Amino acid sequence: MKLQSEIETLIRARYPILYILSSEEMRVQKVVMSIAQRRQKKVFEWSFSTGIVPGGTSLQSQKHRNPATKDPLTALDQVIEQVEPAIFIFKDFHPFLTKSNFAIIRKLKEIALHLKNSFKTIILVSPTLEIPAELEKEVTVLSFPLPDREELGELLNYIIEDVRQFKQVKVDLDGAGRERLLQAALGLTLGEAENVFAKIIVQDERLTADDVNEVFAEKQQIIRKSGLLEYYATTETFSHVGGLSVLKDWLQKRAITFTAKARDFGLPPPKGILILGVQGCGKSLCAKGVSNLWQQPLLRFDMGRMFGSLVGSSEENVRRAIAVAESVAPAILWVDEIDKAFAGSQSSGGTDGGTTARVFGTFLTWLSEKTAPVFVVATANDISQLPPELLRKGRLDDIFFVDLPSQAEREEVFRIHLGKRRRDPEKFDLWAMVECSANFSGAEVEEAIISALYDAFYAGQDLATEHILAALRETVPLAKTMDEQINRLRNWAEGRARNASIPRTTAADPQRRRMEL
Ligand SMILES: Nc1ncnc2c1ncn2[C@@H]1O[C@H](COP(=O)(O)OP(=O)(O)OP(=O)(O)O)[C@@H](O)[C@H]1O
Ligand SMILES: [Mg+2]
Repeated sequence: MKLQSEIETLIRARYPILYILSSEEMRVQKVVMSIAQRRQKKVFEWSFSTGIVPGGTSLQSQKHRNPATKDPLTALDQVIEQVEPAIFIFKDFHPFLTKSNFAIIRKLKEIALHLKNSFKTIILVSPTLEIPAELEKEVTVLSFPLPDREELGELLNYIIEDVRQFKQVKVDLDGAGRERLLQAALGLTLGEAENVFAKIIVQDERLTADDVNEVFAEKQQIIRKSGLLEYYATTETFSHVGGLSVLKDWLQKRAITFTAKARDFGLPPPKGILILGVQGCGKSLCAKGVSNLWQQPLLRFDMGRMFGSLVGSSEENVRRAIAVAESVAPAILWVDEIDKAFAGSQSSGGTDGGTTARVFGTFLTWLSEKTAPVFVVATANDISQLPPELLRKGRLDDIFFVDLPSQAEREEVFRIHLGKRRRDPEKFDLWAMVECSANFSGAEVEEAIISALYDAFYAGQDLATEHILAALRETVPLAKTMDEQINRLRNWAEGRARNASIPRTTAADPQRRRMEL
């Protein structure tokens, strides 16, 4: 493990205080113990409830206890008194590093000097970062990664081995099923994964690849707790997306890049796309569809809301949102209406003290450097609001332009939405409806069908072509009022973005019967 050798190097180089960010004390401890063994050092643990005890002492054991060391200052004194080489793990020390604990902060600073000339190291392990300015120079921060596939695999083996004694428990996992389960569990701590695997087995005395959903539910909990992102549960699939075949193909092709085989082949996971285009034509719908296609959780990141909160906290918010997304990777991070965030920030003018620029900088840096399989789907209507840095090569895999649906695409959209309302599309005059809905967006087609349903129900009839045609005629499509803006978007997209549908010129709509309406 890379981090293990990094910690070891820092200890050997006599870095006095290491701060390891993790909620998994047991895993950290295991790593530290093995380093200590190699370097022939003793390990001591401190917690507020036990005081200082030798590393690995069980909670019940009363041996080697010194209750006085529960007090942080006394505990730090003991660190100084220790003569042999040793590593001290302080668990959850962060509450004592806030401003009001000046005595403790000062003591730690003095100890840091002392430790540099000794063979002792202090390791602080906490889930949150709290470093007072006085200690910034003395403390080295490391974040402890969540367990990888291999570690989770070991845990799964151990659990399967463990339940073997119970004859009624059926474990039905082939290689692929196991891979899916482990992939879904990525992002959980070892403890959380153990809990969810145990829960699955206890529930129905079975462990199969279908239990993937249970694991997803666990991830959902984590996201909800973070409060920054919205876990977006959706049933939309690509079969609900009419047209946009180029975009759909693109995403379909990349569905397989998350398998072990693709990894071994050397395929990097895709980074992300920007879907740019006309309102109501299926941009958000596609983001939802990918989640089902790739069987990955969809996290909706509302940038607009972020900027709405207290200015100054946003940068931290973005960092945390990114961390959460990475912790549940592989996942899809859906940054919906990314342009709106910038629209808001521009209207606040120079008053935000450069926060927007910094926040966006954080996001862009992460976009180009990220290694975790978090696929970004950003959507936008308005290019004039988008900072050019976002569009630079290497940040995203591709930019897609979604235009108003063509005739053939509208026919698909009618079929989809009639089907969704349990109507047989073949019983309708699709062509008449397609002709009557020139320049309509997918959303407007859907709305017309819904409005027609109301009319039909009110008239005590079943839905028929006439109702839909009437509703279509009553609608003024947005494209009419927004014509100029749409044209501007088209011009911009020309040559810069890939058309999400088959290009209009090559996909001539088939000649169909023309009706006089
Ligand atoms: N191509 C399409 N196929 C099927 N349904 C569509 C299509 N486009 C739009 N719709 C319907 O319209 C609804 C709204 O579309 P969606 O939210 O995806 O639009 P959008 O492009 O994200 O628009 P906005 O720019 O306003 O966010 C969808 O939920 C869907 O029911
Ligand atoms: Mg949308």
